[in-house]
Amino acid sequence: MLERLDQIEAEGLAELEVAGDEEALQAWKTRYLGRSAELGRITESLRELPKDERPAFGRRANEVKGALESALAQREAALEQASLDRNLTAEALDVTLPGRRIVRGRLHPATQMLREISTIFAKMGFQIYRSREVETDDFNFGFLNMPPYHPARDQWDTFFTGDPGIVLRTHTSPGQIHVMRERAPEPIRVILPGMCYRYEQVTARSEFQFNQVEGLAVGEHITFADLKGTLVTFARSLFGEGVRTRFRASHFPFTEPSAEMDIECFVCQGAGCSVCKKTGWLEILGCGMVHPTVLVNGGYDPELNSGFAFGMGPERIAMLKYRIEDIRYFWANDLRFLEQF
Ligand code: DAH
Repeated sequence: MLERLDQIEAEGLAELEVAGDEEALQAWKTRYLGRSAELGRITESLRELPKDERPAFGRRANEVKGALESALAQREAALEQASLDRNLTAEALDVTLPGRRIVRGRLHPATQMLREISTIFAKMGFQIYRSREVETDDFNFGFLNMPPYHPARDQWDTFFTGDPGIVLRTHTSPGQIHVMRERAPEPIRVILPGMCYRYEQVTARSEFQFNQVEGLAVGEHITFADLKGTLVTFARSLFGEGVRTRFRASHFPFTEPSAEMDIECFVCQGAGCSVCKKTGWLEILGCGMVHPTVLVNGGYDPELNSGFAFGMGPERIAMLKYRIEDIRYFWANDLRFLEQF
């Protein structure tokens, strides 16, 4: 009988070694430790043994039972650990792996220039006024002192829409009339940034869409000196304290007198180069004192009020500042260009 116990122990331990999953463990448990297992049965038959053999047999049977139980516990623990390890490797997250770089967008160079210009004028007390891009003929031309058939209209190659009298604005100047009609007779100090459209041949120097920043100040004692002071301060903020500026007489139907402002060419410091076409100067904006007719069309009395206005092209200024040679880059959406800003 004792030998049978040894056999049960040896077989049980050997079989346990190869029980590889939960199901096999359960079967093994029923077979060796279950209610009808052989070990149990022979332990129950203890009383059939001669009295003097009983203690030794009982002790040995308990030993075998204990050995099988602790072997089972170890095997269970080992299998659990193995399955845990498997899961850990299979679902491993390597937290030291460098993340994927997010491609960050950035502000378009035209937007950057618009913001830079707006900031400078904001510091001088100018508000931003948003005006519409689709205009009537009257606002784009008529109220700006260019009645129908006025030859000056030819300076702006215009996109006419299917609706008679409705055009895409060719400049931001019509916004002047909108602000004046909204604010009269209060004083005004605004800039009007936004897209303009012209029916142009697209070349390195001209696009059919581009931004402008218009400026308008209307009040009781506004003079040409205010215009000059404002624009010289602007040029110094944008191009540097030392920049030289000059005003040349010019002509626009909506201002009288009219001028254009040049800055000294920063490429050649005025000596003359290909950027300034040997003149030493770069033209950056048009300006003037608001024409009395325009003041009247805006609802102001030119006897009591005066004003100055100006208009500039931020893409053109960015081209000068960053030496961009072709205006078509601005709207071509070529990342090689856009990422440089
Ligand atoms: N509107 C003009 C243009 O598109 C620019 C301009 C010139 C605006 C003089 C002004 C101004 O307000 O006073 O060419």
